[in-house]
Parts: sequence; C-alpha cells; structure tokens
Amino acid sequence: MPSAINLHHQVRKLHETLNYHSHRYYVLDDPEIPDIEYDKLFRQLEAIEKQHPELITLDSPTQRVGGKVLDSFKQVTHQVPMLSLSNAFSSDEIEEFSSRIDDLLDHSDFSIVAEPKLDGLAISLRYENGLLVQAATRGDGQTGEDVTQNVRTIHTIPLHLSGQNYPHILEVRGEIFMPKKGFAELNTTQINNDEKPFANPRNAAAGSLRQLDSKIAALRPLDMFCYGLGLVEQVHPDNPLKSTHSEILEQLQSWGLAVSPEVKTFNTWQECIKYYEAILSRRSELPYEIDGVVYKVDNLEQQEKAGFISRAPRWAIAHKFPAEEAMTRLLNIDVQVGRTGALTPVARLNPVFVGGVTVTNATLHNQDEIDRKNVRIGDMVIVRRAGDVIPEVVKPVLSKRPEDAQPYIMPERCPICDSLAERVNDEAKSRCTGGLYCPAQRKEAIKHFASRKALDIDGLGDKLVEQLVDAELIHDISDLFHLNAVQLVTLDRMGDKSAENLINAIEASKKTTLARFIYSLGIREVGEATALSLANFYKTFEVVKTTGSEALQDVPDVGPVVAHNIETFFSQPHNEEVITKLLESGINWPDIIQKDSNELPLAGKTVVLTGSLSLMNRNDAKAHLIELGAKVSSSVSKKTNLLIAGEKAGSKLKKAEALKIEILNEAGMMSLFESHNI
Ligand code: IVH
Repeated sequence: MPSAINLHHQVRKLHETLNYHSHRYYVLDDPEIPDIEYDKLFRQLEAIEKQHPELITLDSPTQRVGGKVLDSFKQVTHQVPMLSLSNAFSSDEIEEFSSRIDDLLDHSDFSIVAEPKLDGLAISLRYENGLLVQAATRGDGQTGEDVTQNVRTIHTIPLHLSGQNYPHILEVRGEIFMPKKGFAELNTTQINNDEKPFANPRNAAAGSLRQLDSKIAALRPLDMFCYGLGLVEQVHPDNPLKSTHSEILEQLQSWGLAVSPEVKTFNTWQECIKYYEAILSRRSELPYEIDGVVYKVDNLEQQEKAGFISRAPRWAIAHKFPAEEAMTRLLNIDVQVGRTGALTPVARLNPVFVGGVTVTNATLHNQDEIDRKNVRIGDMVIVRRAGDVIPEVVKPVLSKRPEDAQPYIMPERCPICDSLAERVNDEAKSRCTGGLYCPAQRKEAIKHFASRKALDIDGLGDKLVEQLVDAELIHDISDLFHLNAVQLVTLDRMGDKSAENLINAIEASKKTTLARFIYSLGIREVGEATALSLANFYKTFEVVKTTGSEALQDVPDVGPVVAHNIETFFSQPHNEEVITKLLESGINWPDIIQKDSNELPLAGKTVVLTGSLSLMNRNDAKAHLIELGAKVSSSVSKKTNLLIAGEKAGSKLKKAEALKIEILNEAGMMSLFESHNI
C-alpha cells in the first residue's frame, strides 16, 4: 500500500506530465508522445482519483469534462475594466491615428505590435497563486458573467500556470473563439441531429461559452489566444513586470498560455499596412476567423502617456477588414447550369457593398438549402462574401419579410435546353440530363469527346474547343465532322498546315472501337471500364442504347445509379439526334467478335488491383482486365483469384499472401496483356 505522501507525489507528477503533453498538443501543436500514451497516463490518474477522491484538485487534468448544470451565471465585477478598441476602416484613418499618437508621445520614437483581431469573445482569466479560479466574459466592460465551468473545459487554457515566477494575482485577457474546422464539424452534427446550425463561428463560440451545462460546452471545439493583462498584484520578487506589450505576450507564453503566432513588432506604419494586407490576403487560409488587425504601442510607459478616451485606449486601434456580411433585398432566383449539368439556384440581389465589392448575385446552393434557410423571393436577406469565396445568402431577416414573399421551387427542366432536370440518389443538386445537347455543357462534352481515351483527336485540345464553340463553328460533337480547313484558318494562330492536320486527325478518329465510342458520349459515371464492360457485354451499340436500366444491371461493373444514368441519357431526344448525326458522319468500329465470354482468358476470375502502377494508369489496367473477362473487385477475400500488386502494396498484399492467392507484379500484368495482344 503506497503511503499518502507517495500517492500525493505520484498525483502531482501525473498532473505535471499530463499538463506538459497537453500543452505540447493543444498550444504548441507539436505533440511529443502518441495519444495512446497520453490516454494511459490519464487513466492512471483517473484510477487513483476514483479510489482517493480527496486527492482531486481543481487543476487536475481530469477536471476538464464539465460539472454541474447551472441555473444562471453569476455576475463578476471587473476590477480593471475590459476596454474596447476604436476602429479604422482605411489607411487614411490609420494615418490620422498615427499623427495623433505622434502628438501624444511628443514625436518620440515608438514601436508598434500588430496582432490579428480575432473574431470571438473577450474573456478575462483570473489566476491566484497560479491556479485558474475564475473566467468571466466582458459583459459591458465593468460587469461580466462567470463562465469558469465552461472555460475550464478548453484545453489550451492552463488550469494551473507553468513555472513559479508568476504574480500572486494575475488576470489574463484574451479572445475565445471556435476554429473554422471545429465550427464546420459542429454544424454538421447540429444538422444531423435536426438542430439549428450556428450562423458563424463567433455565434457558435458565444453559444458554447454561455452553456449552463458545461458538459455540453466540453464537447465544443473552443480555443483561446491571449492579448493582454487585467489586474496584476504582488508580482514575483524574481520576476518584475515587463516594460513592453511584446515582452508580456512572451511571458504569458512561458506560463503556458497561448498567444497568436501571427503577432509581429514593427517600427513604421508602412510595415503595419503591409502586415494588414498580407494577413487580409491569407485570411481564408487561417484556421480561425479574424475581422481585422490590432495595432498597439509596444512600450507600456508610452501607453500610459497616451492614455484613454472613454472606454478605449488611445494607444491602440483596430484596423478592420471590409465587412463580410450585409443586408439586401432578394429580387429573384435564377437557375445557372454548370459545365457538368449541375443546376444551381442563384439569388439576384439589390446591389450591396460587401467584402470590399458590390455584390448583385449570390449562390443559394440547392433546393435543400433554400428550404433549410427558409428563403423566399422578396425577402430581406443577409449576404456573405468571405475572401474570394462566391457570395452566399446566409439567411432571411424574418422580421422584415414582406407579405407577398414567394417560396421557390427548382424547375423540373433545364432552363437552358429544356431537357429533364433530375436529382439522382442523395445528390443535393439536380442535374440537366441534356448531356451532349445542352449548350451549358457543350464545351465540356466536346473536350471529353476529343480526349485521348475517347475518340483521341490529335491536336484538338481544350483551348481549341473553346475557340471553335465561341466562333460558333461547332455546336455539338457531331459538327466536328463537318468542319473544313477554310473555316479553321479563320481562327487565331491556326495556319494552313495545322488546319489540314486537324481535319486529317478528325477524319482518322472516325475509326474507333465501340467501347471508346460509348465512353466518348460522356454519360455520367460511365468511365472507360464501364464503357468497355458495356461493349463486351452487348457487342452492338443498338443494344446498349435500347436496354432498360434494370437489364443494364446484369453488366459487370454497372449498378443501379449508372444503369439509370445510361437509360436517361439515351432517352433524351436531343442526345438521340446528336448520336444519329455522329453515326451518319461515318464513325465506325470493328465488330466485336462473338467470342463466348467463357473463352476469355480471365473468364470467371476475380482480380484485385493494389499498390501504385507506373507503366499504365489504374483505369486502363482495370479496363484491360475486364476486356480479358475478369471481374475486378476492390477488396481481397477468399473469392479472389489473382492480386496485381504494384509498388508500395500494403494490407491487401499481406491478406492475399495469407490466403495464398496468386500474385502478379506490374511487369507480370504487362506481359499478361502483351500475350493477349493488348
Ligand atoms: S485588445 C485595451 N487585441 O476586440 C484593448 N482585442 O473591439 C483591449 N479583440 O473586446 C482589447 N482581437 O474582444 C485586443 N488582438 C486583440 C484582439 C482584440 C480581438 C476583440 C476583443 C475586444 C474587441 C474590441
């Protein structure tokens, strides 16, 4: 039986070790030991605490999971008020600020600390003898709310400061926020649980911090960066208070608190403006939301000299980014057809200045989003434009909804070509089934048709397709076969010789294979392998074209979705028209020899491909295996007959070895193909 003192010592050691690793993991983002090792130590501590509850202390790492549900939050009076900042929206305003500071500091030199302005909530942490005893929101700056229970669940916030040289009483000020990734995950969970998603990370952080049940707060991905001090009493005799803001931030880090890694010190305003622009351009890449930068005079004596006006210091200013959200009227909803046929509802807006530009259109994504957000034509809506992202309608302002606001339902036909628009499976977007015919999809369809694995028209690259369509020399893929050299030389940078070469290449492409022809049509989800399967199974185009979706599922590699896509494609009159024109222009392929499929060399064999191939791409390899009669599967089982193992093959190779399945390397596969004239 360990003595009480020993046990105490062991608990303290475990606290220290766990805190050390937790700090490396959460604050420094540089874990030293694997999670499983951490969990082991954590469970050790839990076990001791279970047997000896008297050893549980407030700063034990086990105490971050949340506690009792509260009825309300206690009020906290801030002994040192929590200030706000004056704002500047342009470099002119920064210039004014700079000359004001010059005057206030009698034109002496000074350095400036620049920090991101985090878009979260201000918090004041109170440490007494190193122990976190209270966390309070800003409130009105004088009185806030006691959210200690919730704040204790945030892993970046030490429950006890590191080292020994901290003041007896230390209030640390900073911002609590929710990182973008955690916010996205939280909203997915909210939607999956039929709960309302949060409008933005700040609302989510605020909602989480004001949870009366700290066990719920504990599940929310909150984080914190510190940016200053409140009350400080009885500094440690060996460690007098620092004389600059930048040194204070360093000191806070050494006590285990997190500070933004973006903080920089400068000597000129030009450098500050450069910093602002650089951060603005990186804004969307940062893992958390910011809404500007904050400049602060570094030296504390100079700060004191500059003083305060009402609730804001005169030694600091927030240089705000252009607002990313604005309110405007939703005038109408149009539908845009993308290059893949996806239909997107687009909000037509009363022009509004947001995110630094005038916005007139914003995406509404799809019908589900319109329904979920409850947006109607005629509503006043909140529009958001963040960075270079396409502007979106966030929500309607229900209190301003006019009586005649109209609900919206996506059309059943493509607004461009009038083909049927449909939603397949669980897809959020509906798609135009016009394929070859739909002008919105035409360029992509033609590029695909000419590409290497389709008709392989030498010299007809993407740029040239764009030019041909823009010059209205072709409208659909069948027009390619009616082009002549005289038309081609009218195009930019197209000489006589290139025109002649292209006409020859188009002519040569008419001789193809049935599989390539099927693939070239660009039917959704019909790749090379499926096209080959269809060709081998039905042997003639006429049968592929006329087989219904149920029967199509007899073809290896064709499931219900693909079968549906094939049937819908061929049932569109427009597609039928284009196909007739193609066949009339002389496209042809050799008959597929009516070999009994049982005679194929890999008939009845299940083959799995694994590892990386360097001599042939995986899709081609798969297509050739199917051509030889194999069924290609993605997982190894007792039913597997052959494994093709490329470089760096892993678990599938091991499993195949264990099951004593025949294994070929890539070279072996290539000779197999060669021996069958592939
Ligand atoms: S300093 C005495 N620094 O902005 C100055 N505030 O608009 C007190 N904020 O309430 C604040 N990032 O919630 C400071 N790096 C930063 C900040 C920051 C965000 C927030 C804070 C404050 C508000 C004022």
